[in-house]
Amino acid sequence: MESVIKIEHINKEFKILKKREGLKGSIKDLFSRDYSTLKAVNDISMEIMPGEMVGYLGPNGAGKSTTIKMMTGILKPTSGKIIVNGKVPYTNRTQNAEDIGVVFGQRTQLWWALPVIESFNILKEIYRIDKKTYQDNLEYFDALIGAGELYQKTVRQMSLGQRTLCDILASFLHNPSVVFLDEPTIGLDVSMKSKIRELIRALNKEKGTTVILTTHDMGDVDALCSRIVIIDKGKMIYDNSIEKLRSFFGDYRTVKLKFNKKEEVMQTEALEKEAEDLQSFLKSQFKGAKSLSASVDDKWISVLLKEDEVHMMKVINCIQEKKKIRDMTLEEISTESVIKKIYEGDIQ
Ligand SMILES: Nc1ncnc2c1ncn2[C@@H]1O[C@H](COP(=O)(O)OP(=O)(O)O)[C@@H](O)[C@H]1O
Ligand SMILES: [Mg+2]
Repeated sequence: MESVIKIEHINKEFKILKKREGLKGSIKDLFSRDYSTLKAVNDISMEIMPGEMVGYLGPNGAGKSTTIKMMTGILKPTSGKIIVNGKVPYTNRTQNAEDIGVVFGQRTQLWWALPVIESFNILKEIYRIDKKTYQDNLEYFDALIGAGELYQKTVRQMSLGQRTLCDILASFLHNPSVVFLDEPTIGLDVSMKSKIRELIRALNKEKGTTVILTTHDMGDVDALCSRIVIIDKGKMIYDNSIEKLRSFFGDYRTVKLKFNKKEEVMQTEALEKEAEDLQSFLKSQFKGAKSLSASVDDKWISVLLKEDEVHMMKVINCIQEKKKIRDMTLEEISTESVIKKIYEGDIQ
């Protein structure tokens, strides 16, 4: 099978003006400018196959949006090669746009003062969508999430979540083969997030659209993506299936605990101190257990351990002897902790 997206050793550098200090500096800046170079994307390569849903992950400023902008032709790479749908994105932007869809979270491509359906009509003309495809999609979207109710609303009247739903629908309106969603769930509440995830999953599955989803929300990736690419400071640090990542961490266990204190009302600092103390206590009890750690996780004290270093029951018993446990849940390692481990260099 041919790949939909092929990226080879791309780099993107931004020149940033260094400002000199004070009035003297400002005057100097007028005559000679001093630039420094920022490597936003540093030697990234990947290949994406038709129908894949890839989670493109990384902390703020990692270079996710810059990569998306290069794949959509908005930015030209400083060096390296990109092919999307058999074309070089930045050389033929209009032609390339016909076969891709893009959503940049929190920025809408819809017209603020118009009913959504009018925006869709304009997009129909721009993308030269034939009447049948257009009608079919409007009906399909309505069947999928009851979008019909939103068509007559103006963007101004909508909540951020409704607007995001409409933006995603707009990006699929012309049946593109690839859709880029840049942080589509940012700023949304839990129930809206899950509605948006359902929509993305259905569109990817039923239309066979390739989806590249950037996010820093692990929940999005857990719910949607089978493959995960992680970047940090412009560099790719992981590219593999989510299962592979999880299986590598199969020996890890998380035990979440609440003690006889009221963790619900405790200050974050106090909770963190609690976790810190517990960690040093456990480390002193199980000297060989390198991976043993404790941290705060949403009002719980979360203990992470590796079963082949120390058995979970031993740890729980040890804690119980020292403190009264009020509540406890066992979990697999969260993908968030997995990513933290990757950052810390525990996995290649
Ligand atoms: N147009 C630009 N000019 C200068 N620096 C930029 C520009 N766009 C992005 N950057 C910088 O490049 C880095 C990566 O940014 P970005 O791709 O937006 O990260 P992410 O989307 O992962 O949060 C950041 O340090 C950002 O400040
Ligand atoms: Mg971004």
